[in-house]
Amino acid sequence: MRLLSSLVLLIAAPAALAVKSQDFKTCSQSAFCRRGRALADRAELSTSWVSPYSVTPSSISISPQQASFTAAVKSSLYPDINFGLDVRVHKDGVVRVRMDEVGGLRKRYDEAASWALVAEPDISQDIKWTVSASDVRAVYGDRKEIEVVVSFEPLKVALYRDGIEQVVLNGRGLLHMEHFRAKAAVAEDAPPAADDAQVVMQTNPRAWFEGEEEDGYWEEKFNTWTDSKPKGPESLSVDITFPNHGHVYGIPQHATRLSLPTTRGADAHYSDPYRLYNADVFEYLADSPMSLYGSIPVMHAHSAQSTVAVFHAVASDTWIDVARPAPGATETHWVSESGILDLFIMPGPTPDAVFGQYARLTGTPALPAQWALAYHQCRWNYISSDDVRDVQRRFDEADMPVDVFWLDIEYAEEHKYFIWDKKTFPDPVDMTHDVEAIGRKMVVIVDPHLKRADNYPVYKEARDRGVLVKSSGGENDFEGWCWSGSSAWMDFFNPGSWEWWKTLFQTQPRGDGWTWTESTVDTYIWNDMNEPSIFNGPEISMPRDSIHYGGWEHRDLHNINGMLLPNLTSQGLMARTNPPKRPFVLTRSFYAGSQRFGAMWTGDNLGTWEHMAVGVRMVLVNNIGGFSFAGSDVGGFFGNPDPEMLVRWYGVGVFSPFFRAHAHIDTKRREPYLLDEPYKSIVRSMLRLRYSMLPVWYTAFREASVTGVPVLRPHYVAFPRDEAGFALDDQYFLGSSGLLVKPVTEKGVTETAVYLADDEVYYDYFTHHAYRGASAGGKYVTVPAGLEEIPLFVRGGSIVPTRERPRRSSPLMKYDPFTLRVALSTGGTARGELYLDDGETFAHEEGQLVWREFSARTDGSARVVRIGSRDLAARKPAEAVDGVALAQYDGANVYARTIADVRVERVVVLGLAARPTSVRAGGDELQWEYSSGTAADDKTQGTASVLVIKDPGVGVAADWEIVVEA
Ligand code: NOJ
Repeated sequence: MRLLSSLVLLIAAPAALAVKSQDFKTCSQSAFCRRGRALADRAELSTSWVSPYSVTPSSISISPQQASFTAAVKSSLYPDINFGLDVRVHKDGVVRVRMDEVGGLRKRYDEAASWALVAEPDISQDIKWTVSASDVRAVYGDRKEIEVVVSFEPLKVALYRDGIEQVVLNGRGLLHMEHFRAKAAVAEDAPPAADDAQVVMQTNPRAWFEGEEEDGYWEEKFNTWTDSKPKGPESLSVDITFPNHGHVYGIPQHATRLSLPTTRGADAHYSDPYRLYNADVFEYLADSPMSLYGSIPVMHAHSAQSTVAVFHAVASDTWIDVARPAPGATETHWVSESGILDLFIMPGPTPDAVFGQYARLTGTPALPAQWALAYHQCRWNYISSDDVRDVQRRFDEADMPVDVFWLDIEYAEEHKYFIWDKKTFPDPVDMTHDVEAIGRKMVVIVDPHLKRADNYPVYKEARDRGVLVKSSGGENDFEGWCWSGSSAWMDFFNPGSWEWWKTLFQTQPRGDGWTWTESTVDTYIWNDMNEPSIFNGPEISMPRDSIHYGGWEHRDLHNINGMLLPNLTSQGLMARTNPPKRPFVLTRSFYAGSQRFGAMWTGDNLGTWEHMAVGVRMVLVNNIGGFSFAGSDVGGFFGNPDPEMLVRWYGVGVFSPFFRAHAHIDTKRREPYLLDEPYKSIVRSMLRLRYSMLPVWYTAFREASVTGVPVLRPHYVAFPRDEAGFALDDQYFLGSSGLLVKPVTEKGVTETAVYLADDEVYYDYFTHHAYRGASAGGKYVTVPAGLEEIPLFVRGGSIVPTRERPRRSSPLMKYDPFTLRVALSTGGTARGELYLDDGETFAHEEGQLVWREFSARTDGSARVVRIGSRDLAARKPAEAVDGVALAQYDGANVYARTIADVRVERVVVLGLAARPTSVRAGGDELQWEYSSGTAADDKTQGTASVLVIKDPGVGVAADWEIVVEA
């Protein structure tokens, strides 16, 4: 049998084409992906497959001061080619493994980490390497439970915890760094074709490893495009195995489930690997491994015993196969078009520990301005200043809160961003001031393609500064087609663009260049099309052989490209005022580290139930990938949702970190005030619910901005040992608040099943109905889910702070009183947190903040419940990331004084065992009402008892205690 040839045929078989997917490559249409999968196939079929890569023991050089070593690596197939290995253990136990070609014909792109990392990580000075004849190893951790072993022959890296293998690199021998080679030399060296695999292996081991043919080494065609490949083959294949983890999560962005389905093996769910290649996919599928607008190459592996993760700092087109060779084990195979191996292994052992480890690498999400967590109203397009004013008026008339109005590309004359079309927007600054009157904001779109017109100052200045991307060969500015017609693209890799781009956002004139004087300091920015999207380019993007600053080809850095625009734009917004205000930038494209610059959304979703449902999952996955500030277009970008669908979509949006309605230019107007009753009132209540919960969202974002633990937490994060919840991705917890939500994403639903993971009581947020979970393996309960209902629960043991006065915008809530919902646990206790600051500046970094802990304790007899508030910031002087702020913290800080009069106006206690006899604060009897409910004493199913304490006379930022006696 012609073994090798038949394999080639097998992988070249066309994959099933789906709607609009013909514009994008499948693995079999991508030469390096074909090569990578073929390598895996040959390894799979061989009983004697051994990785050709090995460490040269004599080359090992251990740093005397730090836990790092370097070593030479050789491939037995190419004895003349040299590779260098660099392994280090960071202070927090993360292992970084780098491998590059040394002294090759060219240099591989090695700068991905420099864009993704927040800083160069500190290397441990305590951990020591031990070298033996066969490996280098280090043991560390509080209990010396972690061991990392780098084996020499073949090269393999394994991380163990408590003697159990957690992560193995090159365990399957698929590591392959295609070295740079000269075209002619390879042609002469071409291996003879052979029929028999064993013969090939013995007579021509290179062909056995790399394949018999030079598959797409020097040129590649796709549809009408030809990719000239002047550097030749340089792909990187690496297998990463999690031998004891049955679930993997992460690698956003794909429209798929949270627990990633398999792509290889007999039971493969998808036929193609997951792809990371930022792309503007028109009408994307709701269930697919295709790449979408952003890429975060971080993958978590989880089991009931352990969580670990890997982050591969590679920026080129990357395909990832996932297989489950046995239950409880996961194999992955990562194939990238170019770049070095730069892999971070995060040892866990829990989801929260992994989030912290990843946040120390790439940064935590920026704490957004508080208004950015409120409701955003967008449409392509509000067509004039008067249209904007009219929409604002109608929201107010309908008593619907909204904080932000958005303008899409039609505000800009000929799509020259920043330049108002004066026919329709004659008075942009006045219009913006009208919006700002009650604290609202404007967000305006600025895309990275610049119309090639001499009368467009932004293009002209960019061209004259030489900061545009060059076409293949590097001589001329690249030219492509986008909204603005013939366009050029900013090259933000060029440092010469940085300070200049930031100055564009200045609202004051500047002598030597253009500034946006027709904007205000409350104009914020939407960066779209930054994959980059190029209508006449291959895969709707930039040709891979285009040239960026430093001579790098676009293929090397494609996935980072989109992140630089929001990075610099957010810096530009901060530079507008002194002191700076927190920026807001929405981006469509993203990479690891993008969480530091703003929010993202899931792009052009369809107005279908499937897209609504997968949007919830995509936002959850983004949270796992470190980027919590995420949402999908409420209503669906394409299509005209019927009222039921629109209402449900608002239900999804209310529980998304980023909450924005948006619609395609061809859709009918669908602002919520246009709805008929009862839909209009339902949406009004939902919007008000979001506003009432802004303190919860803000507290959750603040926690994420300090710890990296995401704002939305799927079940496996909240209950890491409960296997039954590991694949759950349609319900989730909001921060540490104890709120559990299951947005309804199906038509015609009146009730739904909600999973309760533990033996605790869960109170329906609205009706106070109590549901009890089960101790082992969790339990599903059926809950009402009619159109006017959002299944929302407070887990017993939580205290939820809200603000319930309806307002037109969130800044108007600044001094509003609070309600505390005290949801007693089965043991009669509860706790919660509230974080507050001015919501718009960086004064919190100097300790201008209020951080409270609320608690409810019960004495042994459960006849006395003490509900109290205390200062949490004062108790956490050295908290991790913002230790500086808290070190300077003073309970009587300026911000705290501004809210000294802000009260708690109501305390609602759920689940008291008996009617109180007295409710006192500071010795005074308070006003209260009690209804006994129907739930049994142990809080099993039935309506919970409700005690409402009215105006207890306590400040939200003060210490106090309320004593409830039965
Ligand atoms: C594509 C974006 O995804 C969409 O939200 C926007 O409305 C259009 N570009 C027009 O700017």
